[in-house]
Amino acid sequence: MSARARADSAHISPSAHYTGYVWYRHQLSEPAFATGFGRFAHTLLTPLTWGVRELAGLDLENILLQRHLLIDARLTAAIETGGVRQVVEIACGLSPRGRRFCQRYPQLRYLEADLPGMAARKRLLLHSEGWLDSRHRVRDVDILAEQGERSLAALFAELDRNEPVLVITEGLVNYFPLALLEGFWTRLATQLAAFPRGSYLTELYPDLREHPRYRQLRWGIDLVGRLTRGGYWLHYRSTAAIAAAFHGCGFRAVEVIDPDQVSLELPAVAMPSMLRVIEAHTGTLN
Ligand SMILES: C[S@@+](CC[C@H](N)C(=O)[O-])C[C@H]1O[C@@H](n2cnc3c(N)ncnc32)[C@H](O)[C@@H]1O
Repeated sequence: MSARARADSAHISPSAHYTGYVWYRHQLSEPAFATGFGRFAHTLLTPLTWGVRELAGLDLENILLQRHLLIDARLTAAIETGGVRQVVEIACGLSPRGRRFCQRYPQLRYLEADLPGMAARKRLLLHSEGWLDSRHRVRDVDILAEQGERSLAALFAELDRNEPVLVITEGLVNYFPLALLEGFWTRLATQLAAFPRGSYLTELYPDLREHPRYRQLRWGIDLVGRLTRGGYWLHYRSTAAIAAAFHGCGFRAVEVIDPDQVSLELPAVAMPSMLRVIEAHTGTLN
């Protein structure tokens, strides 16, 4: 991967302030995670998100909440019934999940990771609140780094290879074109294969052209790309294509979860959901 492509993804980091503020606004987070910039960006974008909701029926904030809560639910199940005691959250941004889950599960070890600038900010935040300790840590990572101190291999070096591990990325993958993304997933599956069970939770917005509001959604997605000064891609046309891609990257079992099909109570989105949460596994344990 060229240095240019690596540097490119730093433009995504400010969006973490926005989502961090959304989690706070909806009582999923504590005040320490809400930044002045997050509040400012949210206030600035309120007329726009209101317009998108009223005119296009697209409730961006509820879509964010759906993804966050669905990932939380899957993580909860992995801990409570799947024996997971170590979690790695890549592209953690200002998400409060690590804090919430460490509070809830005293046996859990939680490693958060992000690009160096965001990781430093998160480390400082957790440290100044007295929340950093030997089981809740923050490290630098760059999902595009194939080797070196910011690579996945370096991040995973400090995990216990005798125990299952669960990795999360939230709000990350649609910012990358497919070739970069599948390169990351292939490196991730290779790392996870060294554990008795490796699980990965992420979300995708597939390119569902048959969706009744596709044109409006496409417009909303392009807007997210412009606001974050990069691209925002809709990857794969179907559940089967998503599953095939994950298998191709080295995952053994893949579940593609449609928020409309789960029994969990989630904030309403007044149209068929375009969000999919993916749970993929490597390893030999069931
Ligand atoms: C939209 S934010 C999501 C933050 C958090 N997961 C959430 O949902 O609130 C995207 C995050 O991806 C991180 N990021 C961008 N490029 C990255 C890369 N190459 N490697 C690791 N993290 C990256 C950004 O720094 C930012 O924290």
